[in-house]
Amino acid sequence: MAAIEPVQFAASILSADFCRLGEQVEEALKAGIRLIHVDVMDGLFVPNLSMGPNIVKALQPLKNKYGAQIHAHLMIIDPDRYITNFVQAGADGIIVHIEACPHLLQTIRNIRSLGARTGVALNPATPLIMLEEILAEVDFTLIMSVEPGFGGQEFIQTSLDKIARLHKLLFHHHLEHVKIAVDGGIHLPIAASIVKAGAHTLVVGSEIFNSRASVSKNFQALCTEFINSR
Ligand code: DX5
Ligand code: ZN
Repeated sequence: MAAIEPVQFAASILSADFCRLGEQVEEALKAGIRLIHVDVMDGLFVPNLSMGPNIVKALQPLKNKYGAQIHAHLMIIDPDRYITNFVQAGADGIIVHIEACPHLLQTIRNIRSLGARTGVALNPATPLIMLEEILAEVDFTLIMSVEPGFGGQEFIQTSLDKIARLHKLLFHHHLEHVKIAVDGGIHLPIAASIVKAGAHTLVVGSEIFNSRASVSKNFQALCTEFINSR
């Protein structure tokens, strides 16, 4: 088990009420969230369609008001086609999938040349070894703990071991500055175990945006659960 470091929560707006998107994002920002996660889906890489750069652009005033950041998680084939669009729309970080990038090093360098933070995501079935050659080039990795495409799925338990192994791999390569983000199925009971396994950032959708309680109450519950488990 890795030592527990301060955790960062990213709010995945896929589960937000799109009729009240600005209001809900502002509630999350007011509650203390400083990273907004925008899931971009093309109906090909994943069996769902979602948002484009226009959403990132629309959120800029809120992002600037609260000093937050936006990361675009590109679940699309050939993501190089759209990286510039997302950075120009105001994305501070771009996450591409290793499974969608035949020339990953070039893609990563393209993102960096545009001034954005670089993240590489791995699907649940993709082995960590696929990352090894490019780890030194990225700012963070994103371990998918569900099959990408939909919010509200169940956390895949074997992801905990994968996160712990990635943590060791980074240590082994003296790359502790490369952060580990985890995305999918993160709910109250499992959140602390994910951080204990070595994650720095938890991407949370349906646990924050749901009809059970307000965004701020849900986020507060997440923080409380996390603090109590330490
Ligand atoms: C899944 C997305 C996730 C998802 C997280 O493809 O990448 O960001 O929206 O939502 P929850 O927390 O509901 O699994
Ligand atoms: Zn995501």
